[in-house]
Amino acid sequence: MSKSKILITCPKAIPPLLAEEIRVLGFPVLRELPAGVETEGRFEDCMKLNLWLRTGHRVLRLVKTFPARHAEELYAQVSQIPWEQHIREDGYLSVMSSVENPTIRDTRFASLKCKDAIVDRIKKERDRRPDSGPLCEGVVVFLYWRQSECAIYFDTSGEPLSKRGYRKIPLQAPMQETLAAAVVLAAGWRGDRNFVNPMCGSGTLAIEAALIGLDRAPGLTRGNFAFMHLKEFNQGAWELLRKDAESAAANSLRGNIIATDVDEGAVRAARQNAAAAGVENFIEFAACDFAETRVPEGGGVVVFNPEYGERMGETQALVPVYRRIGDFLKRKCRGYNGCVFTGNPKLFNKVGLKPSRQRTFFNSNIECRLLEFEIY
Ligand SMILES: C[S@@+](CC[C@H](N)C(=O)[O-])C[C@H]1O[C@@H](n2cnc3c(N)ncnc32)[C@H](O)[C@@H]1O
Repeated sequence: MSKSKILITCPKAIPPLLAEEIRVLGFPVLRELPAGVETEGRFEDCMKLNLWLRTGHRVLRLVKTFPARHAEELYAQVSQIPWEQHIREDGYLSVMSSVENPTIRDTRFASLKCKDAIVDRIKKERDRRPDSGPLCEGVVVFLYWRQSECAIYFDTSGEPLSKRGYRKIPLQAPMQETLAAAVVLAAGWRGDRNFVNPMCGSGTLAIEAALIGLDRAPGLTRGNFAFMHLKEFNQGAWELLRKDAESAAANSLRGNIIATDVDEGAVRAARQNAAAAGVENFIEFAACDFAETRVPEGGGVVVFNPEYGERMGETQALVPVYRRIGDFLKRKCRGYNGCVFTGNPKLFNKVGLKPSRQRTFFNSNIECRLLEFEIY
């Protein structure tokens, strides 16, 4: 099968981390975009990227680019693609789109037009049309349309890769799994020292740290990817990729991973989520105030994701919490890279330490900072 362009989407500010992951997996980085990275490869490469990527959201395989000024031209161009070679006539199809074109007021209309072109073509060739709907559980086609330039992709992920499948109990304000992986990587954790995560909530940061430290593919816990519904999908090749990933994983960590939270329910949920991810035995859990968290000798990374306080009055109440976090870092975390991830700029300087580095991230659309403090 020939190579085509592959676009991996991600939230803003993540592309440098995603590009690094792509290189480490052995793929070229053709372009870094504001919210994605472009590479190239074959169908099997899309399976590998879906299985291994930690910070990407969707793996889009380019089908065709073409000009289209309005919906009729879009329909005509999409009809020329031999969809019957890729989509089963008894399959299920969803079309998603991102459109900025002066003739299109509602993106759903562009998706509908594109979907009609696909199913009409398959009906003509195979005398039967696939079902379609919004569920992204079968084949997913993605239309990217800017002015009169269109690109059509197979979204080989379907549900975004942030949905790893292990978070059974999400609790309040959980961090997206892909963002948590990005934060863990940006904090410098690679599995060789300790990872301490007070205020762990549903455990996402500690679980992602364990997956990274063990070199375990994050896609192993997920049962469905959109590529599985395309005709090119080869179950044997997929099983082989999974088997390789399973045997590449380490079965011990060099450092400790510690996750604590003052809320016993959160610790219970984090433990269950870790069990679903297959890493429960690699994380030491405890219910306690963050200041009581055990910090092992040997250094490593400490990551806090405290509440940000979105409403008036809440910020003020959080000031002493952020101060105490600063005290904890100073008193107990010598030799660690201390990190605080927060979305409230009024609280950035309340930790009372000078950050050695600040990195911007986006949690949904809230601009956040990862503040890093080297504690000597
Ligand atoms: C924003 S949530 C963390 C979300 C987490 N990153 C996740 O992905 O689920 C903040 C957590 O801090 C915990 N917390 C608040 N005050 C605390 C304290 N004094 N000591 C320990 N944990 C605390 C809360 O129970 C809550 O679970």
